[in-house]
Amino acid sequence: MMPSSQTVIVHPAPGGMRGQVQPPGDKSISHRYALLASLADGASTIRGYSTGGDCASTLACLRRLGVSIERTGQDADGLQLTVAGRGLRGLLPPSDVLDAGNSGSTMRMLAGILAAQPFSTEITGDNSLRRRPMGRVIAPLERMGAHIESVDGLPPLTIHGTADLQPVDFTPEVPSAQVKSAVLLAGLHANGMTRIREALPTRDHTERALEAFGVNVIRELDGAAVAGGQRLVGRALDVPGDMSSAAFWMCAAASLSGSEIVIAHVGLNPTRTGILDILRRFGADVSVEEDGARRGEPMGTIVVRHRDVGSVAIAPDEVPGVIDELPVLAALATHGGELLVTGAAELRVKESDRISALADGFRRMGATIEELPDGFHVHGRNRLRGGEVHARNDHRLAMAFAVAALGATGPTTIEDAGAAAVSYPAFFSVLESLRS
Ligand code: S3P
Repeated sequence: MMPSSQTVIVHPAPGGMRGQVQPPGDKSISHRYALLASLADGASTIRGYSTGGDCASTLACLRRLGVSIERTGQDADGLQLTVAGRGLRGLLPPSDVLDAGNSGSTMRMLAGILAAQPFSTEITGDNSLRRRPMGRVIAPLERMGAHIESVDGLPPLTIHGTADLQPVDFTPEVPSAQVKSAVLLAGLHANGMTRIREALPTRDHTERALEAFGVNVIRELDGAAVAGGQRLVGRALDVPGDMSSAAFWMCAAASLSGSEIVIAHVGLNPTRTGILDILRRFGADVSVEEDGARRGEPMGTIVVRHRDVGSVAIAPDEVPGVIDELPVLAALATHGGELLVTGAAELRVKESDRISALADGFRRMGATIEELPDGFHVHGRNRLRGGEVHARNDHRLAMAFAVAALGATGPTTIEDAGAAAVSYPAFFSVLESLRS
């Protein structure tokens, strides 16, 4: 994997982008299948497991907790793994600190599981993760009976778990699938029914993954509930391609005249397809063909063709459905369109402060972008000239700058472009292969 500090130069693509892509296995689903397979009775096999650094961090943490995970092969879209489940109460105290690397999902979801273990675990991460708020998982997990040490709610965390976790009825302050998942995973071990209520729906991969492993999840209009003590059964699982990785190619195709990109075997979970609607609102030609569902996760093929780049406003209630795609949608708007995003203050506490880092990078490339406290406004009327930008060790910024760079008049140098490997190690080689 290339180091995150690696610099990449992206040249314009005046002829557009054409071809077929198989995105890497979905990052969110990969984490969840690995976590749940570790808690299951019996072995699970996982195909299409994300090749990104974040999902490798989850495997490294699970191995430190005594889980045996064997890599049995690799396909175009990901790794094949066999995970020897240890059962609901079978994890072992780790001999060393767990390292979640750059992965907020690993730290927050694993915290839910560690809260239920009768031992203490320290979990840390890289410089970016050590600046990200963990109070949002600490509060509900402490209400359930765990004790979690941290300084100012930031990593590292020392999680003093308990086998006697109490159920909770919890409404997070910010809509977050990671917080929902941490509470449901803790609830799986609690003495009773744990309920999570959401003001706005977030991705439901945890609910679907729990069901795939045989757990009964009660779906409610405003959330989900799970009864503790249910056993998970080891399964054969197939991870669909990652919609959030596919988004870079969909936006590249929508941006550049003459483009057509086909994305195969991509996850079509309705909590992740908000971007398709937004692309259509920009004017792109988007067609979708669903070709089935495996273990509750629908998948299919998407074709995006350039038509127009218009003017779009994304409302606050749409934000949770496209939170990871906002940087690349901003890149799309730089190709002659306009994008107004509000209600997205969460972007400030992602792998970087994505609002200020995005505005800084795009301005260096010649864009007109206003920074708002909870969003941004891109006016893409003037063509970008390219320039030197810094991805601030943030994978989605590295890739969003690359998509913006394709429409510039000159080259763009992206520092920290290697950060793309956190979710999409092959990103820059796929980009070169799609030039027409
Ligand atoms: C994720 C949820 C989102 C998203 C992140 C992955 C998940 O974060 O931004 O990349 O897998 O549950 P939040 O739940 O914090 O919004």
